[in-house]
Amino acid sequence: MTPNAARRLALASALGLWASLLAASCGEEVSAPDTFLTVEQLMDPESCKECHAEHYREWSGSMHAYASDDPIFVAMNARGQRETGGALGDFCVGCHAPMAVRTGATTDGLNLSELPRHLQGITCYFCHNVVAVEGTHNNPLTLANDGIMRGGIKNPVPNTAHASAYSPLMDREELASADACGSCHDIVNDAGVELERTYKEWTETLFSNEAVEERLTCGGCHMDGRRGLAADAPGVFLRRIHSHAMPGVDLALTPFPEREEQRRLVQRSLDTTLLARMCVEPSDGGAIVRIELENVAAGHSFPSGATQDRRAWVELIATAQEQEVFTSGVIAEGQPLTSLDDPNLWQFRDYIFNDEGEEVHMFWEATSSVSELIPGPSKLHDPDAEEEDHVSREYRLDALPDRVTMRVRLRPMGLDILDELIASGDLDPAIRDEIPTFDLLATVLTWTPEAVNGCVP
Ligand code: HEC
Ligand code: HEC
Ligand code: HEC
Ligand code: HEC
Ligand code: HEC
Repeated sequence: MTPNAARRLALASALGLWASLLAASCGEEVSAPDTFLTVEQLMDPESCKECHAEHYREWSGSMHAYASDDPIFVAMNARGQRETGGALGDFCVGCHAPMAVRTGATTDGLNLSELPRHLQGITCYFCHNVVAVEGTHNNPLTLANDGIMRGGIKNPVPNTAHASAYSPLMDREELASADACGSCHDIVNDAGVELERTYKEWTETLFSNEAVEERLTCGGCHMDGRRGLAADAPGVFLRRIHSHAMPGVDLALTPFPEREEQRRLVQRSLDTTLLARMCVEPSDGGAIVRIELENVAAGHSFPSGATQDRRAWVELIATAQEQEVFTSGVIAEGQPLTSLDDPNLWQFRDYIFNDEGEEVHMFWEATSSVSELIPGPSKLHDPDAEEEDHVSREYRLDALPDRVTMRVRLRPMGLDILDELIASGDLDPAIRDEIPTFDLLATVLTWTPEAVNGCVP
C-alpha cells in the first residue's frame, strides 16, 4: 500500500460513520463534517474539556501545562536572551511552548505573558497532531496540521468534534512512542553538549528492548492506565485510558491546578526509585560505612533530565551515645547544597563547564559536561553474571558508632542556581522558598549494632 493510500485508509476508518458517506463521492477531496472544530479551535485545550474532562484536568496540573509558566524557565530564557544578544532565539521556547513557535506567535519567548493561554506550554494539540519524529533531540516533531487527533485507540468511536486516528507514536505499548516523547526530552546545545539525555539513557536500559516482557516506554511508566471512558460522548464504552498527570520531580512553584496531587504522585514515584543497603564494619578503632544504591524503577538515570540543575545527595549521620561522630550531606532547609564544605559529600548530578574549564550554570554557557548519575537497569543485562547494577561508596569513621542513619534527598532545582538568577534580577526571590526537598522513602535506613551481618536491610 502506498503511504498515500495508507493515510486515506486511516482517515476513512477514523471518520467511521462518515466513511461510508464519503466513499460515495469516490476519489474526491475528503471534507470534514461541518460540526468538526477548525484546526485553530483544536489548538485550544479548552475545546477538549467538554468531552475529555478527566484528561483535561490531569493535563492542566502537569509540568507540560506549566512548561512556559514556570518562573525559572521564564527567568533563564530572559537571561539567556540578554547574555547571548538574542542568539538563543526560539531554542528554549520551541520545547516549552511549541505551539507559540509553530504558529509564529513568538520567536524568543520574551512575549509569552502577552500570548493567549492556548499557546502556552505543551498542549493537547501538539502531542496529538504529531505525524513524524525526525531526529532524536531538540524537538524534531512534525505536525500534520490536519485536525486529526491521533492517539493509541485503534477503533475510536466517531465524534462530532474531530476525526481520530491510531498512531504508534501515541501508543505506549510501542517503542516508537518513546522516540516521540524522547525527542523533546533530549537537549543538545550549540556546542554539542548533551544537556538532557533522558531518552538516550532510556535506550541504554533494558526497557528499550523489543521483548514485550522487558519493554517499557516513557508512557508505560509515566501514564498510569485504568479502565474508564476516553470521552463523555455518545456510543463511548469502557476501555483502558491513561493518566495525563505525568509526574517527574518538578512541581508548580506558583498557584496552579492540581498542585497537591502532583506532589503526591512525585513523592510516590520517588519513594521506590532507589533501593539502598548500608553496612557498618568495625575497623581500626573506628568503622567503615558502606552504602550501595541501585536504580530499580526509573527507565533512565537518577536523576535525569535537567541534571545540572538537580541536587540529589546522600545524608549520613553516625552517632555514639547520642553524640555525632560523623556527618555528611546535612543541610538546613533553605541552605544551598553547594555551600557545604564536605569532602565526603556523595551527590548525583551533571556538572557543566565553559572553555576555561570553570563550572557554569546556564545551558548556553556550557561547552563540556561531566556526569555522575545512577544509571537505570542495564540493557546488557547478563543473567549469568554476578549482579553489579549498583553504585557504592565507603565512608571512613574514626569512632565506632552505635547508630547510623541515611537517606537520599533530592531538590529538583539547586538553590545556588536560583540565587544566581535572583542576583541577576531575573527571578522573584519568593520562588526560592517554594523548592521542595524530597526524601526517597526506600533509602531512609537506620543501622544499629543488632543489624544482621552488619547490614540494613
Ligand atoms: C464532542 C466531544 C469531543 C470533543 C470536543 C473532543 N473529543 Fe476527542 N474524542 C471524542 C470521542 C467520542 C473519542 C473516541 C473515544 C473512544 O473511542 O473511546 C475521542 C478520541 C480522542 C482521541 C483518541 C484518538 C485515537 O484514535 O486514539 C484523542 C487523542 C482526542 N480525542 C483528542 C481530543 C482533543 C485534543 C480535543 C480538543 C482539541 C478533543 N479530543 C475534543 C470526543 C471529543
Ligand atoms: C505530552 C504529550 C501529550 C499531551 C500534552 C496530551 N496527551 Fe493525550 N495522550 C498522549 C499519549 C501518548 C496518549 C496515548 C496513551 C496510550 O494509548 O498508550 C494519549 C491519549 C489520549 C486520549 C485517548 C484515551 C487514553 O487515555 O488513552 C485522549 C482522549 C487524550 N489523550 C486527550 C488529551 C487531551 C484532551 C489533552 C489536553 C488536555 C491531552 N491529551 C494532552 C499524549 C499527550
Ligand atoms: C514538546 C516537547 C515535549 C514532548 C513531546 C514531551 N515532553 Fe515531557 N516535558 C517537556 C517539557 C518542556 C517539560 C518540563 C516542563 C517544566 O518543568 O518546566 C516536560 C516535563 C515532563 C515530565 C515531568 C518532569 C519533571 O521534572 O517533573 C515528565 C514525566 C514528562 N515530561 C514525560 C513525557 C512523556 C511521557 C512524553 C510523551 C508522552 C512527553 N513528556 C512528551 C517537553 C515535552
Ligand atoms: C521504568 C519506568 C520508567 C520509564 C520507562 C521512564 N521513566 Fe521517567 N521516571 C521514572 C521514575 C521512577 C522517575 C522518578 C525518579 C527520577 O527522577 O529519576 C522518573 C523521572 C522522570 C523525569 C524527571 C527526572 C529528573 O530527575 O529530572 C523525566 C523528565 C522523565 N522521567 C521522563 C521520561 C522519559 C522522556 C522517558 C522515556 C524516554 C521515561 N521517563 C521513561 C520512571 C520511568
Ligand atoms: C529539546 C527540548 C528542550 C529545550 C530546547 C529546552 N528545554 Fe527546558 N526542559 C525540557 C524538558 C523535557 C524538561 C524537563 C526535564 C526534567 O524535568 O528534568 C525541561 C526542564 C527545564 C527546566 C526545569 C524546570 C524546573 O523548574 O525545574 C528549566 C528551568 C528549563 N527547562 C529551562 C530551559 C531553558 C532556559 C532553555 C533554553 C536555554 C531550555 N529549557 C531548553 C525540554 C527542553
